[in-house]
Parts: sequence; structure tokens; C-alpha cells
Amino acid sequence: MRHFLADDDLTPAEQAQVLALAAELKHAPYDAKPLAGPRTVAMIFDKQTLRTQSSFAAGIAELGGFPMLVDGSLAGIGVRESVHDVARVLGRQASMIVWRTYAQARLEEMAEHSGVPVVNALTDDFHPCQLLADLLTVQEHKQQLAGLTVAFVGDGACNMGNSWLLAGATAGMHVRISSPDGYAPAQEMVDRAAAIAATTGGSAALEADPVAAVTGADVVVTDTWISMGKEDEAAARAAVFAPYSLTTALFEHAKPDAIAMHCLPAYRGKEIDAEVLDGPQSVVWDEAENRRHAQKAILTFLMEEATS
Ligand code: NVA
Repeated sequence: MRHFLADDDLTPAEQAQVLALAAELKHAPYDAKPLAGPRTVAMIFDKQTLRTQSSFAAGIAELGGFPMLVDGSLAGIGVRESVHDVARVLGRQASMIVWRTYAQARLEEMAEHSGVPVVNALTDDFHPCQLLADLLTVQEHKQQLAGLTVAFVGDGACNMGNSWLLAGATAGMHVRISSPDGYAPAQEMVDRAAAIAATTGGSAALEADPVAAVTGADVVVTDTWISMGKEDEAAARAAVFAPYSLTTALFEHAKPDAIAMHCLPAYRGKEIDAEVLDGPQSVVWDEAENRRHAQKAILTFLMEEATS
């Protein structure tokens, strides 16, 4: 049973295949109905959501399926009953499970026992659906992925930093992560990305100096400094991350035609200047739209793998 729990669950060839399918589905959104029946896809949210819930629900409906919303706070997964038992119950109701939660281990346990494909809709460690959407967006704007340089500035230890490392390396990109001391991705994650990059011609590197990281980049990415679950650290983080803000001045070090990316929600004046987020080189609204197309592609891929 194939799942999509982390970005490197797809080989480079499979990632390219899913991205090509996403582009095709974007072009003809109502033509493919692999979830006809309708097949039910359970969507569980233990954390807040806007883009993920709406894009999965719309995408599943467009594929001919039924998006079944499971409220994580009502289900109480791991509290009211174990992940293992929930997996066995939902696996009897749904053809696939999409879950946004905290620890990656919870998702892995779900995948182990559900008997149906499980998709990571964000954990503390990874946000792989966002990365499929982001890579689709880069491809649309730059007509290539392999060989491009992407600089991620901000909280490199969060899900987006990790996912850019793995997904970018899988796509053959040169990924630079620039974070303050104590907020870099784990060395294990950098090594995991570097091992992939060695097979794709990409690279994975940490660069503490944000100006050095952004200089010459084709793509500049940031994310909130306070990921869901880190709200208690807001004040301390605001001070530490200030030099890593994606300001107009920092963005000017990138290539003149660089694009600016942010998975949203964004906090203008904190991790990104309004002039960058709302400026002509920002592609953030394309990223948000592309969630739907990219997720339709990964659901189609997993459904085909499960039924072939
Ligand atoms: N790193 C952010 C991403 C939000 C889509 C978070 O986990 O809150």
C-alpha cells in the first residue's frame, strides 16, 4: 500500500509524473473521475485549516468522490481511542485518508493500520502536499525545476523547511536553508536531502547568512515564524527571526526575475514585507490554487497504485 507521508515517498520519476498529471488536471479539471462512485475520502484536521480543507474538498469532488470531513477535536484521536483503532474504523469507511496532525508518528501509525492510502495534510515535520503545489507553481513560472536555486529563509526546522529540502532535492533543485541559530533543520534532514540530491543533480545546504542564501536565487521562500503548535514561543521567536524577514531589500539580492513564495497564512511586516507578498514577483495565489490540482494528482496516483 502506497502512502504520501513525506516528500521523499515519491521517487524523482514519480514526482515528475504527479506534477505532469497535476498540470493536465489543471487544464481540464472536470474530465477525470477516478473517485467516481463516489468513493469517500476522509479528511481529518487536528489543526487549523483553510487552504487544505477547501482545496481537498473541491478537488475530491472534482474527481467524482465524496470528501468526508472528520473533526479531529470530536474524534479525539489518540485520546478518546487509539490511532490504531481509528485507522481500522476509517479504513472500513473511506477509500483514502487525508490527515493534518502534530507528530509524524501518528500519521505513520495510521498508515500502518488503515489498509487504505494515507496522505499527509501537514504534520509538525512535513507539508508535502504544499510542496507539490509549490513545485507545480515554480514549473509554471520558470518552465523547469532541475538546476534552479531556491532559498528558504526563516524557520528551517519547521515542516516547510524540511519539505523544501526533500522535495526540492527530489526535483533536482539547489536548496539553501537560512535560519537563525537553533532553528535550522536537523542534520539528519539535510543529509537525507543531500543523498537524494546526489542522484538528481541538485544540492542541499544550510547558509546562516540570509543575504548569502538569497543571492542569485531563482526562488525565494518564507513561512510564518510561529507554526501551529508553537504559539507559546511567539514573543521569543519574533526577536530571533527578525533578521530573516523577507524584506524588499533582502529580495533584491535574488535574481531580477526571481519569484517570491509563501504557503500562507502570511504575517505582513513579520516574516515578509507587504511589498514582496503583494508585489509583481509574488506567486502566492498561484500556490494556493495549485494545492487543488496537485492534491488531485497525488490522490489519483495513490488510488491507481492501490487498485492496480
Ligand atoms: N509552518 C506552518 C505552515 C502553515 C501552512 C505551520 O505549520 O503552521
